[in-house]
Amino acid sequence: MNSKRITVESDLEKAFHIRKEVFVEEQGVPLEDEFDEFDTLDGQCEHILVYYNEKAVGTGRLRVVDGLGKLERICILEPYRKFGLGKIIIQTLEEIAKDKEIDRVKLHGQTQAEGFYKKFGYQTSSNVFIEDGIPHILMIKELSTK
Ligand SMILES: CC(C)(COP(=O)(O)OP(=O)(O)OC[C@H]1O[C@@H](n2cnc3c(N)ncnc32)[C@H](O)[C@@H]1OP(=O)(O)O)[C@@H](O)C(=O)NCCC(=O)NCCS
Repeated sequence: MNSKRITVESDLEKAFHIRKEVFVEEQGVPLEDEFDEFDTLDGQCEHILVYYNEKAVGTGRLRVVDGLGKLERICILEPYRKFGLGKIIIQTLEEIAKDKEIDRVKLHGQTQAEGFYKKFGYQTSSNVFIEDGIPHILMIKELSTK
């Protein structure tokens, strides 16, 4: 199990494929809402891949918004869940944030994943709101940059 930052288009395509399978096909998010202007290699986002036995099975991205890091599009292909790979996504995106000297990160978590993010110190900071037709909450974490 390992992760890497995406630097080439072919890896970005792998990440898009995973997101399509999880968010669009499994969760019913409209294709046009899943992908946006931040899905490039040279923009505001750092994208990552997570591997299981050399196979790319998970992804996520960190977007810098007003000096904060926003964790987005976190997903693992269904057969590879509960193996600790989601944790690797969070750790890798937080490391990227620290490298950028960002000390506060946030995310819009699906309510069904709230317990997952809480395990890593994210605190719920809003009421439930609907995004892409799915109930979400705002979650925030202070990073120790030492
Ligand atoms: C949410 C998701 C990324 C978690 O990935 P994962 O690889 O299964 O997570 P891990 O195996 O690293 O789990 C880490 C810990 O969180 C727990 N956990 C995982 N999913 C959880 C959930 N939905 N709710 C509560 N706890 C959860 C695990 O049991 C594990 O606990 P432990 O350390 O005490 O054993 C994955 O379920 C997924 O891709 N879901 C579909 C897409 C999605 O909903 N993404 C989140 C959008 S906000």
